[in-house]
Amino acid sequence: MANISKIKGKSLVEPEDFSVEEMESLFLMSEKIEKNEKYLRESCRGKLLATLFFEPSTRTRLSFEAAMLRLGGSCLGFADSGSSSAVKGESLADTIRMAASYADAIVMRNPKEGSALLAKRYSYVPVINAGDGGHHHPTQTLTDLLTIRRLLGKIGNLTVGFCGDLKFGRTVHSLAKALARYEKIKMIFISPKELVLPEYIKTILKKRNVLFEERENLEKSMPELDVLYMTRVQRERFFNEDDYIRLKDIYVLNSDKMSLGKEKMIVLHPLPRVNEIAVEVDSDPRAVYFKQAKYGMYVRMALLASILGVK
Ligand code: CP
Repeated sequence: MANISKIKGKSLVEPEDFSVEEMESLFLMSEKIEKNEKYLRESCRGKLLATLFFEPSTRTRLSFEAAMLRLGGSCLGFADSGSSSAVKGESLADTIRMAASYADAIVMRNPKEGSALLAKRYSYVPVINAGDGGHHHPTQTLTDLLTIRRLLGKIGNLTVGFCGDLKFGRTVHSLAKALARYEKIKMIFISPKELVLPEYIKTILKKRNVLFEERENLEKSMPELDVLYMTRVQRERFFNEDDYIRLKDIYVLNSDKMSLGKEKMIVLHPLPRVNEIAVEVDSDPRAVYFKQAKYGMYVRMALLASILGVK
């Protein structure tokens, strides 16, 4: 845990805010928590976490709250943005100043790209980005990397396929950027041309000499993949309902397509899913998205304990 002292007091706005070594120390802590439920149990006693969710969430919000409560700390926050003074016109900067006056750390989800960076600028306490529009979702990336490490035993020398909405998918942007720092990763981006990966992420991958390809066909890509990262086509990010309806069911992973995959492939999904993974796939041992969501709680426990200071 050599790098924990460096994480203490730090914000997490995008995946590269933490070094590979710092992330590795979080993964080791997460695995200890998974094995021993008493580990770090009281490490956040007396600490308060503010959860500011300006967009809906099930996993991120509940896993952060569960993590903080399991560490002996407490949470405060508004049930939805409609019950905060944001509806009266209060700026995000002022809301953040208030939350930072009451809490020891802030977790925020907001529909605007760049909002987490702005929050960090105005906060007196660490800010954790729980998703800023279609930009980044770095704690989902910690969850995804921990799942790969835990179930495949390594993060490296892997072919990772990303499928679905790669344009607006913040979890894809964050994971692709994070994976680019590991050895021998090949990425295959599978999407319709309307939902391809943004140019700025491709530029980063090219600068790092990451091998990647863009394709439209999922079936043909299946035999190559060690990890398949499925994503939802996100209705809330479309400007035009007709475009959403045309594209929403473009990829549906079912048992027939799973039969084309490697025996040891794993299927991840940040969830929620709608139709892109048929329910019949849930019983396939390679479908690990519910396990992944549980690892999200362990890694958020490790993150909070580290940011707020492990005793
Ligand atoms: N993966 C994820 O961010 O899920 P929620 O939107 O439910 O938080």
